[in-house]
Amino acid sequence: MRVLVTGGAGYIGSHTLVELLGQAHAVCVMDSYANSSPVVLDRVRMLTNGTVTAVEGDVRHDDTLRRVMADFRPEVVIHFAGLKAVGDSMSDPLGYYDVNVNGTLALLRAMDVAGCRRIIFSSSATVYGEPVYLPYDEAHPLNPTSVYGRTKMIAEHILTDWAAANGGSAVLLRYFNPVGAHASATLGEDPADVPNNLMPYIAQVAVGQRSHVNVFGDDYDTPDGTGLRDYIHVVDLARAHVAAVDYATQRKGARPFNIGTGQPYSVQQMVEAFRKASGHPIPTVIAPRRAGDIAAMQADSTRAHAELGWRATHTLDDMAASTWAWQSGNPAGFRTPGR
Ligand code: NAD
Ligand code: UD1
Repeated sequence: MRVLVTGGAGYIGSHTLVELLGQAHAVCVMDSYANSSPVVLDRVRMLTNGTVTAVEGDVRHDDTLRRVMADFRPEVVIHFAGLKAVGDSMSDPLGYYDVNVNGTLALLRAMDVAGCRRIIFSSSATVYGEPVYLPYDEAHPLNPTSVYGRTKMIAEHILTDWAAANGGSAVLLRYFNPVGAHASATLGEDPADVPNNLMPYIAQVAVGQRSHVNVFGDDYDTPDGTGLRDYIHVVDLARAHVAAVDYATQRKGARPFNIGTGQPYSVQQMVEAFRKASGHPIPTVIAPRRAGDIAAMQADSTRAHAELGWRATHTLDDMAASTWAWQSGNPAGFRTPGR
């Protein structure tokens, strides 16, 4: 299949390219490099010995999109390009609606012109909001509490209406908490700023770039009082996209899928796993709860297993060990000299 990957130079996109190339798909990346760099694609080429066509461009720009569609003629699009920082989305709502919603609209318009009727979309578990019950299944009500979450929910609605109107296929992948890195330690998460998320923060403490991990609350109604999340290894997540590409060729309509392991871990358990993987102490300080956080979330991924034939295989130790190998081998991320 010819697969157009928007945002393919990003954290999840780059790992997905490796899995797509491993299954002999042809890939073309369109990325503005707003949160990544072309170096990432060089690493993917090195790792896979594969061809990665790349076009620098913004997913909101109709002209670039039409040119890419005409030149590459994708049979499927995987749409990763977007903004993802919850805090920024609250201070810059219009910027977030523009990239995440208008970007999706522009992409669908260009797909319509090109006659491409299959799309895999990066959604998020954050569309569910405060749990009414756990684990979340796909029928759980959607009630996102941030602008970021609302951009994802609105994009899901748009994709659902688009698929219904034209017989297209839209696979809505609701990721839980992606962590980890490629086993080669050549690809991984490379936050531009102070990490917002737990795992990259722990990794920076382990290599000595930060002094300690702030544990945001130890008085939640959870076994050790710290927040519980369903962490999913990025390579498992990447493989869910390959399964979704196959699914989209066989099914019409829009369908959401939870992509998680179903096994939640606490903040303390994540720190402990990282201590074990790195052999470093990783000091922690108990800090106040972070505004907007929920105590626990957990996926029911039965549907993804039944219909996509997908299931996570990596363990917590794999998540910690691969993150450690990436971070210690690339302390300055993709800017590490000599790598
Ligand atoms: P990322 O920032 O590493 O990757 C996003 C890529 O999109 C980057 O390469 C960036 O340069 C590119 N991009 C941003 N704006 C663009 C634009 N206007 N036009 C073209 N390219 C643009 O993020 P990621 O973690 O790989 O996330 C990928 C997708 O998955 C995003 O849509 C994100 O919202 C979603 N998601 C991520 C997480 C997570 O925790 N990482 C969880 C749930 C959903
Ligand atoms: C965050 C986003 C969510 C996004 C998800 C996936 C918020 C409110 N939500 O979710 O939209 O889909 O990332 O990447 O930002 N923690 C600490 N110390 C830290 C960082 C985090 O204790 O320095 C705790 C948090 O309180 C939470 C857990 O670690 O209990 C995980 O946090 P994080 O990695 O930020 O993910 P989420 O909050 O689940």
